[in-house]
Amino acid sequence: MNQPKKVLILGVNGFIGSSLVWNILEKTDWVVYGMDMFSNKIENCLGHDRFKFFEGDITINKEWIEYHVKKCDVIIPLVAIATPALYVKKPIEVFELDFEANMEIIRKCVKYKKRLIFPSTSEVYGMSKDSQFDEYESNFVLGPIPKGRWIYSCIKQLLDRVIYSYGEHQGLDYALFRPFNFLGPKLDDINEPKEGSSRVVTQFLHNIIHGRPIKLVDGGEQRRCFTFIDDGIDCLLRIIENKDGKASKRIFNIGNPEMNYSIAELATMLVSLVKEYDEYKERAEKAEIVTVHSNEYYGEAYQDITHRVPSIKEAKEQLGWEPKVDLETALRLTLDYHLKNEDYELNRKHLR
Ligand code: UGA
Repeated sequence: MNQPKKVLILGVNGFIGSSLVWNILEKTDWVVYGMDMFSNKIENCLGHDRFKFFEGDITINKEWIEYHVKKCDVIIPLVAIATPALYVKKPIEVFELDFEANMEIIRKCVKYKKRLIFPSTSEVYGMSKDSQFDEYESNFVLGPIPKGRWIYSCIKQLLDRVIYSYGEHQGLDYALFRPFNFLGPKLDDINEPKEGSSRVVTQFLHNIIHGRPIKLVDGGEQRRCFTFIDDGIDCLLRIIENKDGKASKRIFNIGNPEMNYSIAELATMLVSLVKEYDEYKERAEKAEIVTVHSNEYYGEAYQDITHRVPSIKEAKEQLGWEPKVDLETALRLTLDYHLKNEDYELNRKHLR
């Protein structure tokens, strides 16, 4: 009889990690070994007999990592700084963690011949003019060096190329996945007051409920395709499962091309949805939407992406995956979690 798959998730308490481990425990017989510096988002998984959690830091607890890379079948390193304000303000820290610390883990996967599932990013396409970004056709377009925003994109691009080369030349079994603006409960902390410290949905929600103006950077005409976390996780589970080897040595955009909204549209939608929650109705009615220049909001090293639509042909063809949740539903579920303290995992069951 086959042994259940052993999955190692580094950064298991993050937005993707916490949702991934819960879904693995619910839907599969796999065993998960997880490391993180915190455990506040995985309280519902702690104590499960197929989940072994270790509180640690990937830059310190290297022996634990090596031991578990050897022990596990699939390695998913999710530790990274992924917030645009920090690419601009702390580029060296982004390089040290996102690139250097992750390179060590990638090398261990090569050494022990383990399957690596690695998070690339929608940001690698940069300012590509393509109407849909294709994993194997689109060119990557980044700004000049003083535009520090691109350091994250560039790091992830190099990691993608290194992993691909290990696959081509040293037999590494890998899959690269590129999330396109995942959103959902547990994305970032809505009580974190620092502007720019979270991704746009959490930032706007924070501003509405704390009576601060929503700031549209450069007018908010820039567009993103928003993808509900559960859709993203559904795709990731298929990648880990790797039925008939269809996810081996491949790159997958994970996004929802239909949920293509401008940031200004997102702001308006959020304000009107928050009005449906009695406790926050008044604050939403008073919500102000203003425009700020990107230099003022992020600093001169910022440059933005005007449109970002994934082609999801590869995930459809190889994995039979497509996203199902529309933006309004995704936002409602996120708001229920934050504003009503509703059991997020329970809500998710209604989606199935
Ligand atoms: C994000 C992050 O880089 C990563 O989380 C990730 O790799 C990737 O994209 C992804 O999830 O696909 P971005 O989409 O620019 O980058 O992230 P947000 O911070 O969520 O910003 C989205 C847009 O909203 C940007 O155009 C930004 O300028 C705008 N924004 C943000 C505002 O107009 N006001 C705010 O208060 C915050």
